[in-house]
Order: sequence, then C-alpha cells, then structure tokens
Amino acid sequence: MDRIRIVGGNRLSGAIPISGAKNAALPLMIASILTPETLTLQNVPRLSDVRLLAQILNNFGTDTTIAGKRAGQREGYARTMRLNAAEIVDTTAPYELVSQMRASFWVLGPLLARCHEARVSLPGGCAIGTRPVDLHLRGLEALGAEIELDSGYVNARAPGGLKGGRINFPTVSVGATHNVLMAATLAKGTTVIENAAREPEIGDVARCLVAMGADIEGIDTGTLVIRGVDSLHGATHAVVPDRIETGTYAMAVAMTGGDVLLENARTDLLQAAFDVIEEAGATVVGEAGGVRVSRGPGPIRPVHVTTAPYPGFPTDLQAQLMALMTRADGVSTITETIFENRFMHVQELARFGADIRLSGETATITGVPKLTGAPVMATDLRASVSLIIAALAAEGETTVSRVYHLDRGFERIEEKLGRCGATIERISG
Ligand code: UD1
Repeated sequence: MDRIRIVGGNRLSGAIPISGAKNAALPLMIASILTPETLTLQNVPRLSDVRLLAQILNNFGTDTTIAGKRAGQREGYARTMRLNAAEIVDTTAPYELVSQMRASFWVLGPLLARCHEARVSLPGGCAIGTRPVDLHLRGLEALGAEIELDSGYVNARAPGGLKGGRINFPTVSVGATHNVLMAATLAKGTTVIENAAREPEIGDVARCLVAMGADIEGIDTGTLVIRGVDSLHGATHAVVPDRIETGTYAMAVAMTGGDVLLENARTDLLQAAFDVIEEAGATVVGEAGGVRVSRGPGPIRPVHVTTAPYPGFPTDLQAQLMALMTRADGVSTITETIFENRFMHVQELARFGADIRLSGETATITGVPKLTGAPVMATDLRASVSLIIAALAAEGETTVSRVYHLDRGFERIEEKLGRCGATIERISG
C-alpha cells in the first residue's frame, strides 16, 4: 500500500490546477444511464472513485472511453470521458462494487427511470456515521417506485414507468436530491422536489440534464420542478471545478504561508469557506484564471465554525479547517452538524501534538506553537487530507499510510503540492 512522506516547514508558492469536481463527475457519469446516446464529459478528474464507477456502469452495458491527454503526458492526464449506454443489459449493481463507494447507489433512480427496474446493493463509502438511504427510497416511492429490501439489496420496480410526484425532504440530502432529480427527468408528468440540496454539483448535474433535453426549473434553489420528457439525448458538458479541492489547497496555503494561484477555481462556489479562511488571516482574491490565496508572516487567527448544507461551511472541509486551527493563535471551535462521528482525524492530528477536545458535535482546538511530524494513518477521504495539511507545517518528517483514501478524491496531490515547494513524495508498495 502506498504511503506519502512529507517533510514540513516549506511555504507554498506557485500555481495549482484545480480539477473537475469528484462530487459532480460521479452523478454526471451516472446521468449517462438516462440516454441511449453518447454523453461526453470534459474536465473529468482522474480518481479511483471515477474508475470504480466506470466499472459499475460497464457492468450495465455502458461503454466508457477516455481521451484528451496531450503529447508526452501519461494516460492519467486524459480528462474527456465518453459514456454510451445504447443498451442496458443488466440492472444489478452488486455489493462488491457499491460497498466501495456510496455514490454508486445513485444509479438506482436512473436505472428505474430508463429500465423500470433495478437491484442495487445498499451502499458503503467513507465510514462517517450511519449514512442511511431512507430519503432516496422515500423520494423514489413518491415517483411510484415499488421498493423491497432483500438480503442487503434494494429491489425496485416501476411497472409502466415512473410518474411525477411531490417530495418534501425532511433533511437536506445531496445524494437523495441527485437520485430523485435524475429519475424524475424521464417520469410521466411533473415532479416537485422541496428542500432539495443546493450544492453547486447538483446545479452542474441539472444543467447537464437540461443540455440532454430535460425540463428543469429552479436550478440552484431549494425547489426543483421537473417536467418529465419521453427521452433524453446526448450532450457535451464540462464538469464544474472542485470546490472542496479548492478549499483544501487554500487551507494548505493559509497553514504554511505563501502565495498560490488556484487555477480554474471559482470564489462563488465556496464563499462561506473563503470567508473563514480570510478570518483566519489569509487573503483570497478572485482573478482571471482562478483564485489567489496568500498569507504573510502574521499569525493564524482562531475561528468558530459550524458545518451546514450549501451555502454554509461544507462538512467536506471540516477536517482541513481543524488541521489549520491546530496552529492558530488562540482557541477555535468547530461544530459538525451533517455527519455524526466525522471526527476520526482528531486522534491522528493529536499525534502531531495538536490540542483538540471533543464534546458531542463540537471540537475545541487550542492552537499550539508547533506541530511535530509523525507516522499517521488516513481514515477517510477528507480526514486524510487534513493530515497532509498538518504535515506541511510540522517540524520534521511525516508518513501518511492508507493513502488509497486520498486517491479516491484528490488527483495527484503530491505532484500539485510538490510543484509549489512542498517536500512530498509517494512511496509505493
Ligand atoms: C454528499 C457528498 C459528500 C458530502 C455530503 C454532505 C458526494 C459524492 N458526496 O454525500 O462528499 O460530505 O454530500 O455535503 O457528493 N441522510 C439520511 N437519509 C438519507 C440520506 C442522507 O438521513 O437517505 C443524512 C445523512 O446521514 C447525513 C445527511 O443526511 O446526515 C446529509 O447526507 P447527504 O447529503 O445525503 O450526503 P451524501 O449524498 O452521502
């Protein structure tokens, strides 16, 4: 298993290209199930989650091809993906694959919409809280699906096809919104989704669906109105830049000090996080070509933050912010409201000498004058990158093991940070 070795203490300066968003690319790939024509996605990040989902879609009969690498680049740089589901030959998503990535559960709605039946394993994914799927199932039932749970699988049928319906989600759920939105595009009649998640990745998927011929109103708002159409067609769509990757590197710069242009990044996608990063003492400026983040010699200032659905501070940046606050000049608090148990990074951050106390949903972080490098272990996707941020500022050497968690969501992180002056390398094996 690969490890990452970092020697801390260097300031970051230069430019980091921001990839397409994992959390948009995955549902966009799934949207290809809805049409027999080719969906072309540009700016697709090369991540292990993307490869795994392609494998799941291939099992249904979808052809996927990847192109777009330039001369001299390795295969891993190609980022235009063509997906063609001319014929769906299998509507089962097996446990072995779905258990490795929660988002693959989102194939349920599109399979039901196109094939009127699906058998999908209950999901796995990052071990952060219980993460049920009741809202997905309730939403699809509102569109007339008949659902049974059987030996760890969801068996769903919609004889005669899905029908438009009304669903008011009691909790904001990104995945349930994606699932029902995609399913509703091919349902007969009108669907209204109230209390829909407003994450930019949902807007990105909705815009792609519109390009494929769907009729959707209320994009980027909490109420989506979808008028079902008989069929969708092919389209070409560029994946929105990854706001979580953007926020992660912004926090890395805030941590080490320095000046980095985050190429292709957009401030409008994560205003709440940029506000916090500025409060912590960094400067964030949107400019042509991206967002520039810098921090001079002043201290990192403490902040008080509560995670919330978009447009609030994202739970996917909570661990990274905590790493930053370990070096703040004072006491910070971070409250996690989206996932219970999303504090597995706390123990690992303590290995660098961080002072963090947990009480229920709230972590109290007392900044320390220095962190010291240590062997640490990645526990989930976002937690693992918080360890990299701590390591960049720690004195001495850190090795992060179990980096397969990192490879699920961060493209070539060692290369991107290495080019900006970090001492970082991947140790294979
Ligand atoms: C997505 C993101 C993930 C992010 C999360 C919250 C992707 C691939 N993943 O995950 O990175 O951290 O949104 O922004 O885009 N819930 C239920 N019942 C359900 C579904 C969810 O109770 O049927 C609860 C969850 O346990 C959680 C909350 O709703 O407490 C939000 O989860 P949700 O928005 O669904 O997260 P995901 O879509 O899994």
